[in-house]
Amino acid sequence: MTTLIRYRDDAPQQALESSTDGAVIIERLAALGVGFERWSTSRSPLPAAASADAILAAYAAEIARLREQGGYTTADVVRLTPDHPEREALRGKFIEEHTHSEDEVRFFVEGGGAFYLHIGDSVYQLLCERGDLLRVPANARHWFDMGPRPRFTAIRLFTDPAGWVGHFTGDGLSARFPRYGEPYAGA
Ligand SMILES: [Fe+2]
Repeated sequence: MTTLIRYRDDAPQQALESSTDGAVIIERLAALGVGFERWSTSRSPLPAAASADAILAAYAAEIARLREQGGYTTADVVRLTPDHPEREALRGKFIEEHTHSEDEVRFFVEGGGAFYLHIGDSVYQLLCERGDLLRVPANARHWFDMGPRPRFTAIRLFTDPAGWVGHFTGDGLSARFPRYGEPYAGA
Protein backbone atom coordinates (compact mmCIF):
# COMPACT_ATOMS: atom_id res chain seq x y z
CA MET A 1 0.00 0.00 0.00
CA THR A 2 1.33 3.44 -0.87
CA THR A 3 2.65 4.93 2.37
CA LEU A 4 4.25 8.23 3.34
CA ILE A 5 6.39 8.12 6.49
CA ARG A 6 8.08 11.13 8.05
CA TYR A 7 11.19 11.01 10.23
CA ARG A 8 13.47 13.62 11.69
CA ASP A 9 16.66 13.50 9.68
CA ASP A 10 18.68 12.73 12.83
CA ALA A 11 16.28 10.09 14.21
CA PRO A 12 15.77 7.33 11.64
CA GLN A 13 14.83 4.80 14.31
CA GLN A 14 11.56 6.56 15.13
CA ALA A 15 8.95 7.51 12.52
CA LEU A 16 7.00 10.62 13.54
CA GLU A 17 3.96 10.07 11.38
CA SER A 18 2.73 7.94 8.53
CA SER A 19 -0.24 7.88 6.20
CA THR A 20 -1.70 5.55 3.62
CA ASP A 21 -4.47 8.01 2.70
CA GLY A 22 -3.93 9.13 -0.89
CA ALA A 23 -5.50 12.55 -0.35
CA VAL A 24 -3.32 13.17 2.71
CA ILE A 25 -0.18 12.07 0.85
CA ILE A 26 -0.98 14.40 -2.06
CA GLU A 27 -1.57 17.31 0.32
CA ARG A 28 1.56 16.70 2.42
CA LEU A 29 3.80 16.37 -0.60
CA ALA A 30 2.25 19.34 -2.41
CA ALA A 31 3.08 21.50 0.62
CA LEU A 32 6.72 20.48 0.05
CA GLY A 33 6.62 21.28 -3.65
CA VAL A 34 6.61 17.58 -4.55
CA GLY A 35 4.11 16.33 -7.11
CA PHE A 36 2.21 13.14 -6.40
CA GLU A 37 -0.77 11.62 -8.22
CA ARG A 38 -2.59 8.33 -8.21
CA TRP A 39 -3.44 7.25 -11.75
CA SER A 40 -6.06 4.72 -12.66
CA THR A 41 -4.40 1.47 -13.64
CA SER A 42 -7.51 0.04 -15.24
CA ARG A 43 -5.36 -0.43 -18.36
CA SER A 44 -3.10 -2.65 -16.28
CA PRO A 45 -2.05 -5.29 -15.93
CA LEU A 46 -0.43 -4.91 -19.27
CA PRO A 47 1.12 -8.15 -20.41
CA ALA A 48 4.26 -8.82 -18.38
CA ALA A 49 6.35 -8.51 -21.50
CA ALA A 50 4.56 -5.41 -22.82
CA SER A 51 6.89 -3.35 -24.93
CA ALA A 52 7.92 0.15 -23.93
CA ASP A 53 5.89 1.49 -26.84
CA ALA A 54 2.76 -0.35 -25.68
CA ILE A 55 3.19 1.02 -22.16
CA LEU A 56 3.74 4.58 -23.37
CA ALA A 57 0.70 4.26 -25.62
CA ALA A 58 -1.48 3.03 -22.76
CA TYR A 59 -0.66 6.15 -20.72
CA ALA A 60 -0.35 8.58 -23.63
CA ALA A 61 -2.95 11.02 -22.30
CA GLU A 62 -1.34 11.35 -18.87
CA ILE A 63 2.13 11.66 -20.38
CA ALA A 64 0.94 14.40 -22.72
CA ARG A 65 -0.54 16.32 -19.79
CA LEU A 66 2.67 16.06 -17.77
CA ARG A 67 4.76 17.14 -20.72
CA GLU A 68 2.54 20.16 -21.12
CA GLN A 69 2.72 21.02 -17.42
CA GLY A 70 6.39 20.32 -16.82
CA GLY A 71 8.06 20.97 -20.15
CA TYR A 72 9.35 17.41 -20.39
CA THR A 73 10.56 16.42 -23.82
CA THR A 74 11.16 12.70 -23.52
CA ALA A 75 9.50 9.67 -21.96
CA ASP A 76 10.88 6.17 -21.67
CA VAL A 77 10.25 2.95 -19.77
CA VAL A 78 12.55 1.20 -17.32
CA ARG A 79 11.92 -2.36 -16.12
CA LEU A 80 13.75 -4.20 -13.35
CA THR A 81 13.23 -7.84 -12.47
CA PRO A 82 14.37 -9.73 -9.34
CA ASP A 83 16.84 -11.79 -11.35
CA HIS A 84 18.39 -8.89 -13.27
CA PRO A 85 22.14 -9.68 -13.37
CA GLU A 86 23.08 -6.07 -12.59
CA ARG A 87 20.43 -5.47 -9.95
CA GLU A 88 22.97 -4.84 -7.19
CA ALA A 89 24.86 -2.22 -9.17
CA LEU A 90 21.65 -0.64 -10.38
CA ARG A 91 20.29 -0.52 -6.84
CA GLY A 92 23.46 1.17 -5.65
CA LYS A 93 23.44 3.82 -8.33
CA PHE A 94 20.97 6.20 -6.68
CA ILE A 95 20.76 4.83 -3.13
CA GLU A 96 22.88 7.67 -1.70
CA GLU A 97 21.51 11.15 -1.24
CA HIS A 98 21.71 13.24 -4.40
CA THR A 99 20.06 15.97 -6.42
CA HIS A 100 19.41 16.55 -10.11
CA SER A 101 19.33 19.82 -11.96
CA GLU A 102 15.96 18.83 -13.38
CA ASP A 103 12.82 17.14 -12.10
CA GLU A 104 12.79 13.37 -11.54
CA VAL A 105 9.43 12.06 -12.71
CA ARG A 106 8.39 8.44 -12.29
CA PHE A 107 5.12 6.60 -12.82
CA PHE A 108 4.92 3.02 -11.52
CA VAL A 109 3.14 0.90 -14.10
CA GLU A 110 3.72 -2.15 -11.92
CA GLY A 111 5.78 -3.12 -8.89
CA GLY A 112 7.21 -0.52 -6.55
CA GLY A 113 10.13 1.07 -4.75
CA ALA A 114 10.92 3.62 -2.07
CA PHE A 115 11.74 7.27 -2.63
CA TYR A 116 13.22 9.31 0.20
CA LEU A 117 13.04 13.09 0.27
CA HIS A 118 15.30 15.07 2.59
CA ILE A 119 13.55 18.40 3.07
CA GLY A 120 14.39 20.75 5.91
CA ASP A 121 15.13 18.61 8.96
CA SER A 122 12.77 15.83 7.85
CA VAL A 123 13.16 12.72 5.75
CA TYR A 124 10.00 11.56 3.97
CA GLN A 125 9.94 7.95 2.85
CA LEU A 126 7.37 7.29 0.15
CA LEU A 127 6.63 3.64 -0.52
CA CYS A 128 5.44 3.71 -4.11
CA GLU A 129 3.39 1.09 -5.85
CA ARG A 130 1.50 0.56 -9.07
CA GLY A 131 -0.44 3.67 -10.08
CA ASP A 132 1.78 6.18 -8.26
CA LEU A 133 3.22 9.19 -10.06
CA LEU A 134 5.94 11.13 -8.27
CA ARG A 135 7.64 14.33 -9.34
CA VAL A 136 10.75 15.14 -7.32
CA PRO A 137 11.55 18.77 -8.08
CA ALA A 138 14.93 19.83 -9.42
CA ASN A 139 17.57 20.30 -6.72
CA ALA A 140 15.60 18.45 -4.01
CA ARG A 141 17.79 16.10 -1.97
CA HIS A 142 16.54 12.53 -2.34
CA TRP A 143 17.46 8.90 -2.93
CA PHE A 144 15.76 5.78 -4.26
CA ASP A 145 15.83 2.18 -3.10
CA MET A 146 14.51 -0.59 -5.34
CA GLY A 147 15.37 -3.30 -2.80
CA PRO A 148 17.64 -6.34 -3.17
CA ARG A 149 15.24 -8.07 -5.54
CA PRO A 150 13.76 -5.23 -7.57
CA ARG A 151 10.51 -5.60 -9.41
CA PHE A 152 9.01 -2.62 -11.15
CA THR A 153 8.19 -1.09 -14.48
CA ALA A 154 8.20 2.69 -14.53
CA ILE A 155 7.68 5.46 -17.03
CA ARG A 156 10.29 8.20 -16.75
CA LEU A 157 9.93 11.73 -18.08
CA PHE A 158 12.89 13.97 -18.80
CA THR A 159 13.55 17.54 -19.77
CA ASP A 160 16.89 16.46 -21.18
CA PRO A 161 17.90 12.81 -20.71
CA ALA A 162 21.54 13.69 -21.43
CA GLY A 163 21.56 16.06 -18.48
CA TRP A 164 19.92 13.66 -16.06
CA VAL A 165 22.79 12.91 -13.71
CA GLY A 166 23.02 12.60 -9.95
CA HIS A 167 24.90 15.20 -7.93
CA PHE A 168 25.80 13.37 -4.74
CA THR A 169 25.75 15.32 -1.50
CA GLY A 170 28.16 13.02 0.33
CA ASP A 171 25.79 12.87 3.28
CA GLY A 172 25.73 9.26 4.45
CA LEU A 173 22.32 9.46 6.06
CA SER A 174 20.56 7.17 3.56
CA ALA A 175 22.27 4.14 5.14
CA ARG A 176 20.68 4.95 8.49
CA PHE A 177 17.06 4.83 7.32
CA PRO A 178 14.98 1.69 6.79
CA ARG A 179 15.55 0.34 3.31
CA TYR A 180 12.73 -0.57 0.95
CA GLY A 181 10.93 -3.56 2.45
CA GLU A 182 12.37 -3.11 5.93
CA PRO A 183 9.99 -2.36 8.80
CA TYR A 184 10.02 1.02 10.50
CA ALA A 185 9.32 1.82 14.12
CA GLY A 186 6.84 4.34 15.44
CA ALA A 187 3.89 6.20 13.92
FE1 LIG B 1 17.35 10.77 -8.33
